[in-house]
Amino acid sequence: MKGVILAGGLGTRLRPLTQITNKHLLPVYDKPMILYPLETLKNSGIRDIMVVCGREHADHFMSFLGSGKEHGVKLSYALQDTNNGGIADALSYAEDFADGGSIAVILGDNIFENDFKKAAAGFASGAEIFFKKAENPSRFGVPVFSKDGKKILRVEEKPKKPKSPYAQTGFYLFDSGIFSVIKTLKPSARGELEMTDAVNRYNEEGKLSFGFVKGEWLDAGTFESLFKAAEFLRKKRKLRD
Ligand code: G1P
Repeated sequence: MKGVILAGGLGTRLRPLTQITNKHLLPVYDKPMILYPLETLKNSGIRDIMVVCGREHADHFMSFLGSGKEHGVKLSYALQDTNNGGIADALSYAEDFADGGSIAVILGDNIFENDFKKAAAGFASGAEIFFKKAENPSRFGVPVFSKDGKKILRVEEKPKKPKSPYAQTGFYLFDSGIFSVIKTLKPSARGELEMTDAVNRYNEEGKLSFGFVKGEWLDAGTFESLFKAAEFLRKKRKLRD
């Protein structure tokens, strides 16, 4: 399975830092942010990886990561023309790279303590998404479960009144059908093509499965979450050393 890291966007919530470099290259304790999703893919058994980034500071990604050899992976790059197209738009740039196969997709600002080796190895078709309990689910995509908790009725993007305490994390498994689904998406209220809309489409067709993330999950897209992520990783490192 190939992997895609979505590292587009302007990172407006992290200005003025993101005026110097891309959000996904900012430090999270002792490493640039993008190395965490890269390691998650690598530890999940995925070595052939495409980074989709915005045009701003695109050169920084390439000069830092190069071919990927140093990190034990093979990297390709794609540039997203618009910086406000959304994450589903960013993924559309990986269609040729995916070459008709299934893909693992990870958001460049998502930090996972554990990998997805088992899920990736066992993935056959459709789409699979992963949840984690969150203190503030309304910042994320939030699943609405059926009464018995076995099925997802839909995922709501940043709902004011979340119908469950879970957040949809930024790791997704998709079969090759994702690219035709993305082509049919319409921009959301925030003007972006939402991955959540693509996920809901798979759900309507009965092709969505889900799992729960074990271990810590952090999204480092705001000052507060970036700080918390650094603090968590520092503590973890101190315990290990
Ligand atoms: C995106 C997704 C959201 C998901 C989150 C995970 O939100 O739209 O469904 O829960 O990533 O990090 P964004 O960070 O683009 O606001």
